[in-house]
Amino acid sequence: MAEPKTGELMEKIVSLCKRRGLIFQSSEIYGGLNGFWDYGPLGAELKRNIKEHWWRSMTQLRDDVVGLDASIIMHPKIWEASGHTSTFSDLMVDCLLTKKRFRADQIEPQSGMAYFYTGATDSGSGRASKDAFSVLIATGKHADYARKVARQFYQQRGLENPSLEGERTEAQANTTRYNPENGSLLTEPRPFNLMLKTYVGPVESADNISYLRPETAQAIFVQFKSALEVSRQRVPFGICQVGKAFRNEINPRNFTFRSREFEQMELEFFIRPDEVVQKMCGAVAGLSDCPPGALVPQPNWGWELWHKYWVEQRIQWYESIGLGRDTLVEYWQKKEELAHYAKATVDILYKFPFGTQELEGVAARGDFDLTQHQKFSGKSMEYFDEEAKAKYVPHVIEPSAGVDRLTLALICNAYCEDQAPDEKGNLETRVVMRFHPRIAPIKVAVFPLLKNKPELVKKAREVRELLRPHMTVFYDEAGAIGRRYRRQDEAGTPFGVTIDFDTLGEQNAARQDTVTLRDRDTMKQERVKIADLVPLLREKIQ
Ligand code: GAP
Repeated sequence: MAEPKTGELMEKIVSLCKRRGLIFQSSEIYGGLNGFWDYGPLGAELKRNIKEHWWRSMTQLRDDVVGLDASIIMHPKIWEASGHTSTFSDLMVDCLLTKKRFRADQIEPQSGMAYFYTGATDSGSGRASKDAFSVLIATGKHADYARKVARQFYQQRGLENPSLEGERTEAQANTTRYNPENGSLLTEPRPFNLMLKTYVGPVESADNISYLRPETAQAIFVQFKSALEVSRQRVPFGICQVGKAFRNEINPRNFTFRSREFEQMELEFFIRPDEVVQKMCGAVAGLSDCPPGALVPQPNWGWELWHKYWVEQRIQWYESIGLGRDTLVEYWQKKEELAHYAKATVDILYKFPFGTQELEGVAARGDFDLTQHQKFSGKSMEYFDEEAKAKYVPHVIEPSAGVDRLTLALICNAYCEDQAPDEKGNLETRVVMRFHPRIAPIKVAVFPLLKNKPELVKKAREVRELLRPHMTVFYDEAGAIGRRYRRQDEAGTPFGVTIDFDTLGEQNAARQDTVTLRDRDTMKQERVKIADLVPLLREKIQ
């Protein structure tokens, strides 16, 4: 089949998300709220499976990582210490005509002819405006367009019928000073803090301002000492957290990709500073000492190898839920792109239909955060390392992933159209969500072949009850069996179990208590004993 174009593909995915209850616009009946999304019945299961799989892999299956579940609103000083109050901002620009706000770095460079005006007068009322204005129009476009836009600008300043003054033109190449939607001049870029503010307590005053956390990471840093003490961990070790974060994004876009409320899955992994490793081991192993094959942590590892190790761990984790390496890009940020606290950052990007974009950042943050909190709180963040016989502030490697972005990536990755025979054997287009069984919202669907045969229905319900304690099961008896398969293909259910007359042993006693097990992707069916279903399916979904 011909591949759908990227815009078309995204439209199909968004429409399927709504139709099948994966993702809904938040507050839809009131017209929606830009940058906020709700997950429907299938989406809620999918997201849960992602978070649970991450949590299990990051903490429960490791000895060296513990979990945390911190509050969303924390002491405002935390955000001063972390630098969010002063620096967590994007440069924004406003359209002088429509007041629409854009992120300055998202304005596409444009070329054309700019028309400048020094002001305008209105002969009827005698009013005048001395506000300068400018409009960019594409080369070859008539000057009247620029004049029309300029007149609108002065009309907004109270001039009913403005005569434009001081018109002059100048060719522009690759400028980002104009609104690409209407050519109007934009304001100068200015910083806009992305933290969402609220007030804690009954008084709305500057003293009571608090913020909804813009990342889950800072709670981990401020609880570093407490978590360390109670868990009896030793450096190197990590603390991880899954939870909501909020950013007042200027331009939420690309469906759920850039939202104002989203969830993060973050690990702060604390390691020895290189100087301590040097003293303890005599030398620090770095990237040039990277052994071939799988990386296994060693006491002589410096931050570079720990960083590489976590990048590799994270990519392997993505593979384990069906995002192959060919769908991902490992992008090493250039020096000039690094955040002020980072020694190195690798962005793990996914090839979305709308472009290759970040899923996760793996940053080597040095001791920036713990040192800042030590300074601002006056509480020591030092750790005494018995093995190294040294006291130090640990350094940090931070793999930080977005749950919603990953959910969207998995939906895009799963979406597939192929050909399948209909009831009469004619080929028709089938939409199938090829979710990895580990994260699929529903693991298995159970169907009685016919709903008007009580023995089939009874047996099918028994099978549902057998499977239910072990996995999410969907029972469906409505409509032709082929239609029921299609519905589950679209929901991404990897397995279908059909109870037919053979199950009842009516035609062949040897087949009694067997069912057909259908594979969503190959559409192949095999005959399986009911007694074998649980172990067989559990193996496939774990
Ligand atoms: N503690 C580090 C940190 O927060 P970040 O790169 O700003 O780093 C980490 O965010 C991850 O959180 C991103 O890779 C992305 O997956 C997710 N994320 C960030 N902003 C988001 C937004 N506005 N909407 C959805 N996900 C977002």
